[in-house]
Amino acid sequence: MKHIDIRQILTSPESFFEKPVTVCGWIRLCRDSKNMAFIALNDGTCLGHLQIVIDKSKVTLPEGASRVGSSVMVKGTAVRSFNKNQAVEVNADSVVLLGDCPLDYPIQKAKTSLDYLRTLPHLRVRTNTFSAVFRIRSRISAAIHRYFQSNGYIYAHTPIITGSDCEGAGEIFQVTALGYAPEYKSAEEYYAADFFGRRAGLTVSGQLEGEVMAMAFGKIYTFGPTFRAENSNTTRHAAEFWQIEPEVAFADIDDIIEIATQFIKYIIKAVLDECPEELALLERFYEPGLSAKLQKVVDDDFVRIDYTEAVDILKKSGKDFVYPVEWGLALQTEHERYLTDEVFNRPVFVVNYPKDIKSFYMKLNPDGKTVAATDLLVPGVGEIIGCSEREADYDKLVKVIEERGMKMSDYSNYLDLRKYGSVPHSGFGLGLERILMYVTGMGNIRDTIVFPRAKGELR
Ligand code: 4AD
Ligand code: MG
Repeated sequence: MKHIDIRQILTSPESFFEKPVTVCGWIRLCRDSKNMAFIALNDGTCLGHLQIVIDKSKVTLPEGASRVGSSVMVKGTAVRSFNKNQAVEVNADSVVLLGDCPLDYPIQKAKTSLDYLRTLPHLRVRTNTFSAVFRIRSRISAAIHRYFQSNGYIYAHTPIITGSDCEGAGEIFQVTALGYAPEYKSAEEYYAADFFGRRAGLTVSGQLEGEVMAMAFGKIYTFGPTFRAENSNTTRHAAEFWQIEPEVAFADIDDIIEIATQFIKYIIKAVLDECPEELALLERFYEPGLSAKLQKVVDDDFVRIDYTEAVDILKKSGKDFVYPVEWGLALQTEHERYLTDEVFNRPVFVVNYPKDIKSFYMKLNPDGKTVAATDLLVPGVGEIIGCSEREADYDKLVKVIEERGMKMSDYSNYLDLRKYGSVPHSGFGLGLERILMYVTGMGNIRDTIVFPRAKGELR
C-alpha cells in the first residue's frame, strides 16, 4: 500500500504543507460531530498522532471509521495547523476503513491501569505508555550495540541450550525431548536417554562461552535472552530476560568498573538525545523528574564503596530492615535501596563481596575472604549490573569447583582457558529490563518486556 510514515510528516511538517499525502494507521481518538470529525491517527512509526480533519459535507466517513482502534487509510492534503499542540494536520479527501474495531475493544481510555493492561499483552502495545517504553527499548538496544561496535568489541552469539549452570544458583529451566516415564531407574538413566545424552537446560548467562570468545577476540559482548527459574515473584525478576555481557581480556576489576561506567553513561545519554518525547510522556505520567535524573547520571561520578563499608553504613542506619544485616550475608533489595535511594542518591558500585555469597568464577582477593566482584546499584531499582574479575588461575579454580561440589567434567572447556594462555580478564552482565525500569520509571519489570514470563505467568 503506497503511503507515507506519519513520523516523516511530524518530523518535517513544512516540507509537506499543501502537498497530497496518503497515510494509514489506527484511530487513537475521534471527535465526531454533525459537520466535522477529527481523528488522531497513529501508525506506530512515532509516539505522536497525526490529526485528520474531516469535513463531512465533502467526505463520507465510513461506518466504524470513527471508532477508537479501527484502522483506516486516509488521502488528503497536509496543511499548517493553527492548534498550538501540533504543527501539521491533514484535510481528508477520502477515508477508507481497513479494519473495523467494535465497541468491546478493551483499550478504550487514554490512561488505563498498568495492572489491567498486563492482562492484555497483545493489545497494551497500542497505548501511549507502551509506545514510549518499547521505543526506548529499541533505541537503547541500538545504543548498546553502537557502544561496543565502535569500541572494538566483537558481538558473540552464545548458546541458549547449555549443560552448565554459570551462576550455580540452581535456577536452570530443564530442556528435554523426553517425557517422564517410570521405566527410568534413576535420574542419570533418564538424562542419558534424553536428546543430548546428558542433562541440558536454558542458559542463565552467556558468560562462560563469552570468556571462550574473549580469549580469542580480546573484547566481546553478548546480547541475548537468558532464563532463570526464579521462585520469587517480585517486581524485578523475570523468568526470561535479556542480558548484555561484555567480556574483556587484559582487564582487572578497576578496568571493568571504568568500562561499565562509561557504557552506562553512553547508553543513557543516547536515550536522552534520541527519545525526548518518550521521556516527557513517562515523566508526566509515571516519574516526575525522570529526564533530570538521567542527566545527572550522565554528568556525575558514580559512587564506589566496599561491601564491608556498605554493611557498616546499613548497621549504623538505625533502620528496621526485614532481613538481617551481617558481614557475610547477601544484601537484600531493601538494603540496596537504602544505599542508593537514601544515602547516595546516585548509582553505586559495591565492591569486594564475601566469596561465599558470590559465583564460583570470581577472582579471590588476597585477603582470601572476598572476591573481586561488584554490583552496580541504582536508585529505585537496586542491582542492574553483576560484574567481576574472573579467576584466571587454574589451580585456584579447580579448588573452588571441588569445594562447591560442582561436576568438574562440566567445566573442562572452561578450565582449558586457564591452562592454555590464561590472562587476567573481567566482565559484567547488564539486565536490559532492569536498566529499562530505571530509564522509563516503570516500577514493574513486566512493563518493560512485551511478553513477560514469571512464575505462574505465561500469556
Ligand atoms: O548478577 P548476575 O546473576 O550475573 C551474571 O549472570 C554474570 N554471569 C554476569 C557476567 O559477569 N557476565 O546477573 C546479571 C544481571 C543482574 O545484575 C540483573 O540486572 C539481571 O542480570 N538479572 C535479572 N533481570 C531480570 N530478571 C532476573 N531474574 C534477573 N536475574 C539477573
Ligand atoms: Mg547479581
